Amino acid sequence: MTFKKNILCIGAGYVGGPTMAMIAHKCPDYKVTVVDINPTRIAEWNSDDLPIYEPGLDTIVTSTRGKNLFFSTEIERGIKEAEIIFVSVNTPVKTFGAGAGMAADLQYWERTARQILECSESSKIIVEKSTFPVRTAFAMERILSLTKNDIHFDVISNPEFLAEGTAIKDLENPDRVLIGSRETPSGLQARDELIEIYANWVPKDRIITSNIWSSELSKLVANAFLAQRISSINSFTAFCEKSEADITEVARAIGMDSRLGNKFLNPSIGWGGSCFKKDILNLVYLCRHYGLDEVATYWEAVVNINEYQKERFVLTMLSAMFNTLAGKKICLFGFAFKANTGDTRESPAIFIAKKLIDEKAELVITDPEALNNAKIDLNDINGTISYIEDPYEASDGCDAIAVLTEWEMYKGLDFKKIFQSMIKPAFIFDGRNILKHKQLFDIGFNVFPIGKPSLTHF
Ligand code: NAD
Ligand code: UGA
Repeated sequence: MTFKKNILCIGAGYVGGPTMAMIAHKCPDYKVTVVDINPTRIAEWNSDDLPIYEPGLDTIVTSTRGKNLFFSTEIERGIKEAEIIFVSVNTPVKTFGAGAGMAADLQYWERTARQILECSESSKIIVEKSTFPVRTAFAMERILSLTKNDIHFDVISNPEFLAEGTAIKDLENPDRVLIGSRETPSGLQARDELIEIYANWVPKDRIITSNIWSSELSKLVANAFLAQRISSINSFTAFCEKSEADITEVARAIGMDSRLGNKFLNPSIGWGGSCFKKDILNLVYLCRHYGLDEVATYWEAVVNINEYQKERFVLTMLSAMFNTLAGKKICLFGFAFKANTGDTRESPAIFIAKKLIDEKAELVITDPEALNNAKIDLNDINGTISYIEDPYEASDGCDAIAVLTEWEMYKGLDFKKIFQSMIKPAFIFDGRNILKHKQLFDIGFNVFPIGKPSLTHF
């Protein structure tokens, strides 16, 4: 079969895999190839056991794979054949040198840009899909302009706004698709080619265009605002716990103000995930680079409050359990950074588990999708940790349960049965406020929600 266009995506991760599967699904006349330097990851994408858990992903991958969706390690060949290349490599925080711990580590995209330059035999559109610092497109253009022949590259910014756990829903029905381009004739033509792809399923009024720097900045600002909202509600959980106000009632009251809206107001042990922290720190770094210290400090506080929230959760556990956790067995309900994903990158559970081990507690970790990642995350920890998928078995003989991920299945458990199998007094720390606290208290638990008065039998 001949295809209208060849699309390549470099980077077969949480973004590259699902986004390209959706394009292949919605655009059967485009050939979509996803490449990666990691052969294991590519083998998994080509198997029945996909490398990431995402509701609905299996269905669209199996319906397109081998037809117009291909996963491969042949990067050079992919570059040669493609007319449009999405760059979806990781952009983690730099761990060395200038800007360590704050700035984005750009070695992966720079390597990719150089490889594109080296292997290209024809002009191409390069799409920034990864989240990059503002003005990365400028650096990418500089590298790609080193070409010896008359090959031309147009760099476009098309940041991804999907959230894990709802990636397929978000991709199928996005709030908006943002495309930033140069205002040159070829920049605008490249932009239109990208619009043509998305227009196969996204309503035209939700495909918005901007200049390239606004597009790059909008991605960082969106994540900063989202994280700020959670940090804000979480900061008031601490206030509620001091004042006997109830955060659920406060969230409902403010969320009914249409100017504020009611989404992203769920209190928690802190936000996690691979992006919020790195993107805000990157923004903070850029602000300082531009001499905007006050702006940098303002956004840095969003991260600081999140660290405080995680720390506060552990201190609540310690103080509730008579100021000692040594030798006590604590069951962590959930390890993923949010429900419906197996991803544990920057999961608050990692921080909490390490702190509990520092207190010499014994841990039992249960999670329906994230146990393999949890084992890797805690691999070098010196302590007693077991991993058990069944929550009943996991909590058997424990002193306390800490709910760290809002998995739907935890709401329907038989807590009478769980209570009977636990050491008394039995504690529940509901770090997501998903359980029925009064019912748990009536069963006999000492219950510590987030941002609400605790319910204890002492
Ligand atoms: P990831 O680590 O899951 O995937 C990145 C992939 O790129 C890896 O498989 C890695 O092997 C591959 N890679 C790195 N260098 C390469 C190279 N030179 N050639 C070929 N492959 C290479 O990361 P991710 O979560 O998919 O995130 C990718 C980007 O998208 C990041 O910038 C992130 O900030 C952004 N983003 C992520 C999400 C999300 O939900 N995870 C959402 C929106 C945006
Ligand atoms: C987030 C953004 O929502 C996406 O738009 C963005 O594309 C993505 O980051 C990215 O750039 O990587 P994600 O991290 O996958 O998506 O998931 P979210 O739903 O945003 O949750 C992030 C964290 O906040 C989770 O730990 C979650 O449990 C927590 N959270 C979320 C709360 O504590 N309370 C809430 O009300 C919502």
